[in-house]
Amino acid sequence: MKLLAIETSCDETAAAVMDQAGQVLSNVISTQIAVHAKFGGVVPEIASRKHIEALPAVVSEALLQAGTAMEQIDAFAVTFGPGLAGALLCGVNYAKGLAYAMDKPLIAVHHMEGHMMANHVTNPDLEMPYICLVCSGGHSTLLRVDENFEYRLLGQTRDDAAGEAFDKAARALGLPYPGGPQIEQLARQGNPKAYSFTRPRCDNPYDFSFSGLKTAVHNITHNAAQRGETIEKADLAASFQAHVIDFLLTPALRACREEDIKTLSLAGGVCANGALRAEAQRRCAEMGVRVFLPERGLCTDNAVMIAEAARRRFLAGYRSNLTLNAVPTISVTGLQSKVYN
Ligand code: KG4
Ligand code: ZN
Repeated sequence: MKLLAIETSCDETAAAVMDQAGQVLSNVISTQIAVHAKFGGVVPEIASRKHIEALPAVVSEALLQAGTAMEQIDAFAVTFGPGLAGALLCGVNYAKGLAYAMDKPLIAVHHMEGHMMANHVTNPDLEMPYICLVCSGGHSTLLRVDENFEYRLLGQTRDDAAGEAFDKAARALGLPYPGGPQIEQLARQGNPKAYSFTRPRCDNPYDFSFSGLKTAVHNITHNAAQRGETIEKADLAASFQAHVIDFLLTPALRACREEDIKTLSLAGGVCANGALRAEAQRRCAEMGVRVFLPERGLCTDNAVMIAEAARRRFLAGYRSNLTLNAVPTISVTGLQSKVYN
């Protein structure tokens, strides 16, 4: 069995081919970052147009790299949500077209489940149950992951997602979009203890909040500019990053302790952050928790992660109808029905 997966939920047009055993046969990503960087963030209408332009070539390239003809594909998978409505629709319609034309099954994949499954591609020894911390540009979510696609929501962000906070703090520091990698680079020369920020209080100890941190960075840079003072931007970047890492890992490790689960998996674009990866490894070792990280290239949006989620669903008998629609907002919990749409 070979599966072709498509991902277009935000600003990457991606396609991948995977076989039944989970071997990655190709992984193609066409990024729109340069187009959106001019505007300081993703412009939804432009994202949709660029997906439509890129999809045929990205899909052809994925087949070419896999040495596979379209006729040899046994199922088509696509991200149906959450994400930008117009962007999602491009991938959903393309995959539906292929499934219809080739008369092969269609598998709808939840974007967050995709991020979570990236870790299984990198680490075949990752076993359920585990605690999963998904931190991307759109989500900061803490889940308990069990067999049979059962995900229990433990906590989520009350305001901004972690990646969003990185992007907004970067903007306040005068750094281009996307801010995560920029802050990580600048922070390497800074002192993470230079600034201290208050830990947000949430009623649910597994919830996250990053808007206070973002506002604090904004206020520091803004006030300094008004006074004509210069600040050590590397120190501010390093302190901001250290706090985001602490605010993410503290609830995640608390969940490992309280759920009595000794396995933590990190997922999503923010997990490409080297300081987060190192700190997760350090804290988990201290607590006797095994930590699993996707390889860096599979942290940010890609279609391999969608293929892995689809492969598991396909083998378990999940199928989608050709009436599948894009769903910009949808929870990853409760997707147990064998046909989802
Ligand atoms: O998972 P992703 O590619 O897209 C969403 O599903 O949102 O995540 C993108 C986010 C952006 O906010 C980006 O700034 C952040 O991940 N990111 C990072 C790093 N690389 C990407 N954040 C911190 N450090 C990084 N190295
Ligand atoms: Zn994503």
